Amino acid sequence: MGSSRLLFLFCSILPFFVANLILGVGADQFFQASCVDTAGNYTANSAYQANLNSIFSQLTSQTETDFNYGFYNLSAGQNSNHVNAVALCRGDRNQDDCNTCLNETVSELRQRCPLYKEVVGWSEFCTLRYANRDLFGELETSPGSCLYNVQNVTDADRFNQALDNLLTNLSSRAAAGGPLRKYAADNSTVGVFQTVYAMVQCSPDLSEQECGDCLSVAKDGIGGCCLGQRGCRILRPSCFLRYESDPFYQTPIPLPSPPPSPPPPPRPQSTRGNGNNTTRIIIIVVASVVGILVLLVTSICIFQRTRKTRQHSLANDDEVIRNDSLQFDFATVGAATNNFSDANKLGQGGFGAVYKGVLPDGQEVAVKRLSSDSGQGDVEFKNEVLLVAKLQHRNLVRLLGFCLEGQERLLIYEFVPNTSLDHFLFDQVKRAQLDWERRYKIIGGVARGILYLHEDSRLRIIHRDLKASNVLLDAEMIPKIADFGMARLFVRDETQGNTSRVVGTYGYMAPEYAMRGQFSVKSDVFSFGVIVLEIISGQKNNCFRDGETVEDLISCAWKYWRQGTAMNLIDPTLRGGSRNEMMRCIHIGLLCVQENVADRPTMATVILMLNSFSVSLPMPSQPAFFMNSNIDSDMSFSVVSESNQSKSEEMPLSQNEASITDLYPR
Ligand SMILES: *[C@@H]1O[C@H](CO)[C@@H](O)[C@H](O)[C@H]1NC(C)=O
Ligand SMILES: *[C@@H]1O[C@H](CO)[C@@H](O)[C@H](O)[C@H]1NC(C)=O
Ligand SMILES: *[C@@H]1O[C@H](CO)[C@@H](O)[C@H](O)[C@H]1NC(C)=O
Ligand SMILES: *[C@@H]1O[C@H](CO)[C@@H](O)[C@H](O)[C@H]1NC(C)=O
Ligand SMILES: *[C@@H]1O[C@H](CO)[C@@H](O)[C@H](O)[C@H]1NC(C)=O
Ligand SMILES: *[C@@H]1O[C@H](CO)[C@@H](O)[C@H](O)[C@H]1NC(C)=O
Repeated sequence: MGSSRLLFLFCSILPFFVANLILGVGADQFFQASCVDTAGNYTANSAYQANLNSIFSQLTSQTETDFNYGFYNLSAGQNSNHVNAVALCRGDRNQDDCNTCLNETVSELRQRCPLYKEVVGWSEFCTLRYANRDLFGELETSPGSCLYNVQNVTDADRFNQALDNLLTNLSSRAAAGGPLRKYAADNSTVGVFQTVYAMVQCSPDLSEQECGDCLSVAKDGIGGCCLGQRGCRILRPSCFLRYESDPFYQTPIPLPSPPPSPPPPPRPQSTRGNGNNTTRIIIIVVASVVGILVLLVTSICIFQRTRKTRQHSLANDDEVIRNDSLQFDFATVGAATNNFSDANKLGQGGFGAVYKGVLPDGQEVAVKRLSSDSGQGDVEFKNEVLLVAKLQHRNLVRLLGFCLEGQERLLIYEFVPNTSLDHFLFDQVKRAQLDWERRYKIIGGVARGILYLHEDSRLRIIHRDLKASNVLLDAEMIPKIADFGMARLFVRDETQGNTSRVVGTYGYMAPEYAMRGQFSVKSDVFSFGVIVLEIISGQKNNCFRDGETVEDLISCAWKYWRQGTAMNLIDPTLRGGSRNEMMRCIHIGLLCVQENVADRPTMATVILMLNSFSVSLPMPSQPAFFMNSNIDSDMSFSVVSESNQSKSEEMPLSQNEASITDLYPR
């Protein structure tokens, strides 16, 4: 590809407590900072600041003897003014590069996150973190970020296969790297002409197992951010990975003997200046917490511009054609569904009915015929569909296309054969098909799908209506989350905030969302927790029968947990399977449904907890109980409430708009 124009995009995968994600423009360099809101601020001229300054000056005055293979563990001060810092330079960099990078990073962070007690900063050759808590030896995968090259690879399947193998190999090599350096880089050929170059690194204070876990979370992030792109960087506090279609790393300096065999030396590169002659644009899409309007507007502008730039730069290839091919014509879809005949109807949901269809090429699809006006113009609707269609993950139902004709708006999805999780879980007979191994896999798959929506996808999506009937199962019982992005397709709203329109299902909705309309990634985490408890118990969230009494599942789970009898929650039909895993899932479920929003883990943490038994779990605090704990057993109903009348005129939708209620396919 002779193109000299490389456009990089940041896709933010930062959780919401991160206030700023900062724009950086430069040659091959990038810089990104996460100022962590939840850790609080220090006051100017305080002891905390003095300690932080002392750490900064230690970092910028490193001597040769301090190098320690690019890893620094620093701390200053006592108790509430204690500052810990961990810095890590890229494994292939020498001390000069490392010092320069740390110097620059220190001054960037001073500017970008003034007064924040806790910060993570990434740049080309180093990562620097500091906080008022232990960092050394802690495995952390959040906040995170990613950066990708907008150029496509030519043979995506082969490329991804080669990349996957290479990264798996590198991850185990890095993890086994020992206490001085956990780094590995190598290349792999893709077919005859292509080569993929990749590098992975963990903070060396992690154990081998933790390093592997961290890199596996990072690797999972590729699917969301970079799949099919020629280059990508996935940044996490404790580890990162990068791959490119061109060489970008150098030979690392050898470790002292006995050397754990250093990675095979790649051709030495003058990486530092690499790409200096080519115009490289780094655009960071700024993601910021709702509140700073200016920032928001700016970010929208940047995003818009980015989209335009991209369209322009790809105007000559088939990007545009590909987009258009997502549009189906009404006649085709009508024919595919026998003119939306009742026989083809799979279900009726708040957004409209869903029909099974077979396209002329034989592909089975599910067609959602939107009943209400989405409140958006055609162009806007189309743009949103194109964005949502880009969300592709093994655990999401794929949106294949759309149809716009007159008043008709259709969404065409892949057809998922095995209906939804609730049809199995809450059915006396079918339940037996879900043994523990299956259920455990379903929990993991749903978690990965949500993580992708929250952190790894180019758009950041809060589902807002996660529930068992929204988890579809394919022929291999792999879970696929349905109906994500509906909020986007209907109402343009921010990624976090207050909404006057509560869309969700009682029993699954976090209390702050149900009562105050506040939604965030953590309200999805809550719903996930409910699903986990349902999967373990085989009981619907709001009709759990505990002997005589009808109690809601969460109260019941909490009661058992406190009594030390959590085993009682487990579905009696689950005879085989690891009790350890089940107990751990109950524990995780309870962590997710905690009343205090900040106490609930992020999905990245949930996945770590699921992946690795070496991660210890905090004690859950009291969960949020439902206001309606005596809901009639089989009634699961949805609400569409205007919790804030004064705001409702800002919402494009008015009266009988959608509730994400009953979902396809029923
Ligand atoms: C911390 O300070 C920054 C300004 O440096 C401000 O934007 C942010 O809201 C503050 N956060 C808290 C939790 O006070
Ligand atoms: C890293 O710093 C922490 C905090 O000061 C300290 O407890 C720990 O022992 C240090 N570890 C090493 C290996 O220096
Ligand atoms: C880092 O900055 C300090 C001053 O802040 C300077 O004395 C030192 O030479 C710098 N080191 C490098 C490698 O640029
Ligand atoms: C980009 O990828 C898509 C498939 O994801 C492919 O159809 C298209 O041809 C690619 N474009 C370029 C420029 O390689
Ligand atoms: C990684 O791949 C190389 C060959 O490319 C092989 O020699 C090595 O054993 C592999 N390492 C691991 C940990 O899989
Ligand atoms: C790819 O890596 C191998 C070692 O695994 C090395 O011998 C070779 O030179 C590398 N190729 C390129 C083009 O860097």
